[in-house]
Amino acid sequence: MAFPAGFGWGAATAAYQIEGGWDADGKGPCVWDTFTHQGGDRVFKNQTGDVACNSYTLWEEDLKCIKQLGLTHYRFSLSWSRLLPDGTTGFINQKGVDYYNKIIDDLLKNKIIPMVTLFHFDMPQALEDKGGWLSEATIDVFDQYARFCFSTFGDRVKHWITMNEPNVFAILAYDLGFFPPAVPHVGTGGYQAAHNLIKAHARAWHSYNSLFRKEQKGLVSLSFFTVWLEPADPNSASDKQASERALAFELGVFAKPIFIDGDYPEVVKSQIASMSKRQGYPSSRLPEFTEEEKKMIKGTADFFAVQYYTTRLIKHKENKEGELGLLQDAEIDYSTDPSWKGENWVFVVPWGLRKLLKHVKDTYNNPVIYITENGFPQCDPPSIDDTQRWECFRQTFQELSKAIQIDKVNLQIYCAWSLLDNFEWNDGYRVRFGLYHVDFEDPARPRVPYKSAKEYAKVIRNNGLEEKP
Ligand code: BGC
Repeated sequence: MAFPAGFGWGAATAAYQIEGGWDADGKGPCVWDTFTHQGGDRVFKNQTGDVACNSYTLWEEDLKCIKQLGLTHYRFSLSWSRLLPDGTTGFINQKGVDYYNKIIDDLLKNKIIPMVTLFHFDMPQALEDKGGWLSEATIDVFDQYARFCFSTFGDRVKHWITMNEPNVFAILAYDLGFFPPAVPHVGTGGYQAAHNLIKAHARAWHSYNSLFRKEQKGLVSLSFFTVWLEPADPNSASDKQASERALAFELGVFAKPIFIDGDYPEVVKSQIASMSKRQGYPSSRLPEFTEEEKKMIKGTADFFAVQYYTTRLIKHKENKEGELGLLQDAEIDYSTDPSWKGENWVFVVPWGLRKLLKHVKDTYNNPVIYITENGFPQCDPPSIDDTQRWECFRQTFQELSKAIQIDKVNLQIYCAWSLLDNFEWNDGYRVRFGLYHVDFEDPARPRVPYKSAKEYAKVIRNNGLEEKP
């Protein structure tokens, strides 16, 4: 169970989920500040990220954990509104720049490679007020922000992720309204936001490519959330087709334009167009790219980043009533197998990750792949001796090893989610994904390693799993 020499072992976090310091030192509000402060039971017990793990002041404690694990890579995100309080480069918050400079420098001093995400769900409120990702104007503002980050940190940061999981973010924030701005536009908002997110990513990649790449020699991509979608009945042609359709709707919507040809998958275009027609829309609810945009979008990623947590079983489900919604457009229904164990929405299916990696290899021209998130939650109260959770990680590493050695997948980096227990969005602090336990009742927010952290450190030291005796 050895991994290739030089394999990257990381852990990931995101700004709003760990930093706290929500209004410290000139930071502007982001949409999650507004959303959580409004209450309304949209987050477990109306909890907020105001303090979270307090990483804004406790970075050195995080660094201790990172060093204890022996990580080769640390993936974190920049808070856009900590750097640019109103989202634009009109005003730069130097204290924010200093904070991230220190993180980057400390990592490099310890020979840990920083992987930086520009946007992990925390839109500056000032930009949301102007329409957020439903507005085309945001594309340009995001590009300016990306250029600012490349020019400020790019002398040292060589792994950039422009946006975290835009494929689910578009739906959760703008279609269903579970995430801020919390205004549902079912059947339209998700596609409109996705359209702008794809163009914004592509613009930022081009900015890097033409203005920074030659000197900085880094890599730029984006990360996708991807549940593995398995046909419920492997012998049923209609379930098989439905699972392919589901993959096209979940992953292909972003990955095909960016990695293949600048345009959405045909099945996504035709399903949405025909549903829209039936529903009386004058045109498809899925916007179209112009020929020029397609050229601009195609080929704008230097590696393929996936975030895998779980698997679902897929069946065809005809949308007889012509209802609005993503599942309805895709005409699918999903379920889980009663034998799968899990917590919250994460059913533990390690083989799903191997299948997903093979799918990425076969569909997207054998790209370099990074797993930028993968993990298992514990619901409160957690157990420091999380033997069962470690078993999930262990089985996952076995599957990764098969993917590399048998399927010849070009996987180079694995990041566990997450370094620390943190603010798990609508679930607040109830759902814990950390390798380190954080006591959110204690003002000092002490970090204590779970058993999984100690075991993960051994895997990193051995560059693989030791065979069980
Ligand atoms: C997100 C993280 C989140 C994790 C666990 C991913 O979808 O990028 O922010 O905490 O899943 O739900």
